[in-house]
Amino acid sequence: MTLSNKEIIKPHGGHLVNNCLAKKEELPALEREAGSLQSIEVSKRVLCDLEMLAIGAFSPLSGFVEKKDYESIVENMRLSNGLIWPIPVTLQINKDVYEKVKGQKKVALKNELNEVVAILNLKEIYEPDLKKEANLVFKTEDEKHPAVRYLFEAGNYCLSGDIKVLKHTYDEFPEYNLGCEKTRELFVQKGWKRIVAFQTRNPVHRAHEYLLKVALETVDGLMLHPTMGETKGDDIPADIRMKCYKTILEKYFPLNRTLLCVMPASMRYAGPKEAILHAIIRKNYGCTHFIVGRDHAGVGNYYGTYDAQKIFDEFKAGELEITPMFFEHSFYCKSCDGMASYKTCPHDVSSHVTLSGTKVREMLRAGEMPPIEFTRPEIAKILIESMKKAVEVR
Ligand code: ADX
Repeated sequence: MTLSNKEIIKPHGGHLVNNCLAKKEELPALEREAGSLQSIEVSKRVLCDLEMLAIGAFSPLSGFVEKKDYESIVENMRLSNGLIWPIPVTLQINKDVYEKVKGQKKVALKNELNEVVAILNLKEIYEPDLKKEANLVFKTEDEKHPAVRYLFEAGNYCLSGDIKVLKHTYDEFPEYNLGCEKTRELFVQKGWKRIVAFQTRNPVHRAHEYLLKVALETVDGLMLHPTMGETKGDDIPADIRMKCYKTILEKYFPLNRTLLCVMPASMRYAGPKEAILHAIIRKNYGCTHFIVGRDHAGVGNYYGTYDAQKIFDEFKAGELEITPMFFEHSFYCKSCDGMASYKTCPHDVSSHVTLSGTKVREMLRAGEMPPIEFTRPEIAKILIESMKKAVEVR
């Protein structure tokens, strides 16, 4: 089947905005210019956002959102032009930095190594309503929520404006950080019309694998797309997860049906609103379908188990253009003798093999293999080894 670029799903807002990354020939002038600008060091979260802008994943955003978009996103889940956008992408600064950059037209953004990584065309400085943002976007003001803590600590002012990124701000697994233009090309080459994307911040357990296989039954290809930017301290480190992803795909999936690609974003743990953002991002990568299971992008007990599915009903049918594929809580059922979910299994929970994340971590730390119905032994081995090494290093 041959496919043309025109047949592939359109990016959010109609076209891919990927001119934020400076071209090679622009670099000498930009670097000279950066030397003459006020500069500020930005957080790991902001570095991840810069990378997402650079590779087109945040299309149609071309920088950090301005006040009218910020307010509209927080209140209505839309940009001020009406396009769906659920979580503001902002550059927060504190009072000291505000004093330094006010009145400037451009600001150089630096990483922790004091290297300039981007230039911001400063459009405006505004004071965000952080409490309102916390309540409407994250549904809580509780600072135990990692993104709410970040929000309240990152400063009371926001800088807005378009961005020029001078160098990739995420440089791990470069061969898997494909960017939206590249994945779109690949899907055309592979002749995949319908592509399902899978978001994850965990190793692939049997329940994840079940979702992937069931979804793949109805589409042409699967993009396994783990979040690789900043995650919580107790999430499994990126390099270990990467080993797990490669192993599961090699051993249990036909290679000509899958693509492994990393997403250099930070987790926000915004549950339902993050599910919408995740879907938009995957549409930008060229995917037509997106898996949303139980407690998608959740943390603690801030969101209901299926809130991240229900939120899709708040938009007109088809408005998002990417199709969500919903899954109920899935597990291995001894009575069914196979993987199942609350939707498909009639048996009592005593037949279900389910383990909490904490229990699994305890077992792995003790060098114990979780049941084969929960984690493939190949994956358990990688996780046990990595935990042993982590203990030796400490
Ligand atoms: S997330 O933060 O990226 O959502 P995780 O990696 O655990 O966390 O989940 C990835 C995707 O799989 C999400 O869509 C989540 O809802 C779904 N998921 C995870 N475990 C299950 C399960 N046992 N049953 C159904 N869906 C699940």
